[in-house]
Amino acid sequence: MGKVISIDHPLIQHKLTLIRDKNTGSKDFREIVKEMSMLMAYEVTRNMPLQEIEIETPICKTKSKVICGKKVGLIPILRAGLGMVEGILQLIPTARVGHIGLYRDPATLQPVEYYCKLPNDVSDRSLIVLDPMLATGGSAIAAIDFLKERGAKNIQLVCLIAAPEGIEAFHKKHDDVEVYVASIDEKLDEHAYIVPGLGDAGDRLFGTK
Ligand code: PRP
Ligand code: URA
Repeated sequence: MGKVISIDHPLIQHKLTLIRDKNTGSKDFREIVKEMSMLMAYEVTRNMPLQEIEIETPICKTKSKVICGKKVGLIPILRAGLGMVEGILQLIPTARVGHIGLYRDPATLQPVEYYCKLPNDVSDRSLIVLDPMLATGGSAIAAIDFLKERGAKNIQLVCLIAAPEGIEAFHKKHDDVEVYVASIDEKLDEHAYIVPGLGDAGDRLFGTK
């Protein structure tokens, strides 16, 4: 079974409660999603390799550590994944950003692709796929199918809320991809919305509907 890392840090859990609340408006929702993404990036990047380089402080020469290894690519799944980009970019400003546009057809619940623009070296990058919601798992599965078809090997998925059904479906297809979540919720409802969830993440971020 693939790995799921549930991040129970108090700051993340507190902020999650704020965005679950239906009375939280779009401005605050966006700000909190950005902050949560930044905090989650701390855990997502924990195993980044380091190397020692030589530098000179005002006092003396010394060896000190810097991040080395593969370059990073952030891959938000449009639309809602966009809300998670800026917080992580503040911590990893050199990351390239590739976009995959998918929406879930409300009748069939199948993901429909409408846009894709990726850095041309995705196979050489550590990719962090971003989407606040993992519901049936269809969108994340399709996005990662797509990245693997283009040679991507090193992929992590970061969501804020996941349904158990989505995690199971996702790892049936991609058990090599670690999934980072702030919460694994109870279940999906009859419209495949996450319960208790936070509603439609894209609509809440952008004030549509
Ligand atoms: C939402 C969400 C995920 C998807 C999750 O996007 O941001 O991409 O649903 O559902 P799934 O796991 O069942 O595929 P949506 O399709 O509503 O598009 P939007 O971000 O443009 O609102
Ligand atoms: N997409 C969302 O934005 N919310 C859900 O609960 C399920 C899918």
